[in-house]
Amino acid sequence: MPCTYIVSGGASRLGAAVVRRLHSAGHNIVVGDLDEGAALALSEELGERCFGAACDVGEDLHLEQLVRVARDRFEGLDGIVNNAVTYIDNGIFSSREEWHRAFNVNVFGGARLVAEAVPLLARSLNPAVVNVASIAAKMAQKGRALYPVAKAAIMHLTRMQAVELAEHKIRVNSVSPAWTWSRPIEQASGGDRQHADEVGATLHPLGRIADAEEVADAVVFLLSPQASFITGTDLGVDGGHAILGPDAGIPRQGALAKPPSDD
Ligand SMILES: NC(=O)c1ccc[n+]([C@@H]2O[C@H](COP(=O)([O-])OP(=O)(O)OC[C@H]3O[C@@H](n4cnc5c(N)ncnc54)[C@H](O)[C@@H]3O)[C@@H](O)[C@H]2O)c1
Repeated sequence: MPCTYIVSGGASRLGAAVVRRLHSAGHNIVVGDLDEGAALALSEELGERCFGAACDVGEDLHLEQLVRVARDRFEGLDGIVNNAVTYIDNGIFSSREEWHRAFNVNVFGGARLVAEAVPLLARSLNPAVVNVASIAAKMAQKGRALYPVAKAAIMHLTRMQAVELAEHKIRVNSVSPAWTWSRPIEQASGGDRQHADEVGATLHPLGRIADAEEVADAVVFLLSPQASFITGTDLGVDGGHAILGPDAGIPRQGALAKPPSDD
């Protein structure tokens, strides 16, 4: 049966991979993205089951519009993917304004969108929310604060939403990708995928970075009836990154051996 999903930030490579997976399975999608041109281009490409709209998830009126489109155009709503993100970050020295903007987009946007959509989601046979978190939620990094702290908040928000919305049978989970081939990694590597994979190999036991489609597959699974008894959890899509200890998976005991002394 065709379902209807809202995907925020759905015009990005990663968001669009989710949109394409859902669309090719026959579902309707409402794409809300700050990048209006990219959202409209995607909906034009996919056709009438995909509606692209300019949306700032930091604005309640925009979120209300996404829910209204799902209701009026597709007659219901079965799931939400909170994928939109701002990478604005000046580390622990970020200004109050920067903290507000980062949290307004990365945390409050998804929180408010879900709250707005509860009455409509509650009518679905398999209502589900997937919040896109990150491996950054659990690891400290120098030079950053807003993004990792917001992602940590998203993980706990996921648990709070899951327990609160269980009475409506709405399941809420998060996914935590590690390095994924999308705009930020593409930019940082100068568009060199092989180089990104080589650097990423030291961080991911599977020896490369992720494709956006691999993250999308995890999101689609969590939205599906196959995940019907899964709620409040975080699914790592990280090539094994989270299981690494301080040696990054490389045997280093040898480095402890002291050179034999001359005496
Ligand atoms: N790329 C990675 O390596 C990686 C790793 C872990 C997690 N993630 C997560 O994956 C998701 C997608 O990230 P990405 O790497 O594709 O980043 P991206 O910057 O390419 O995509 C983000 C999308 O969100 C949109 N957006 C930004 N601000 C918005 C706003 N206020 N309202 C609505 N839309 C807005 C952008 O226009 C863009 O389309 C994010 O949640 C990110 O944290 C990415």
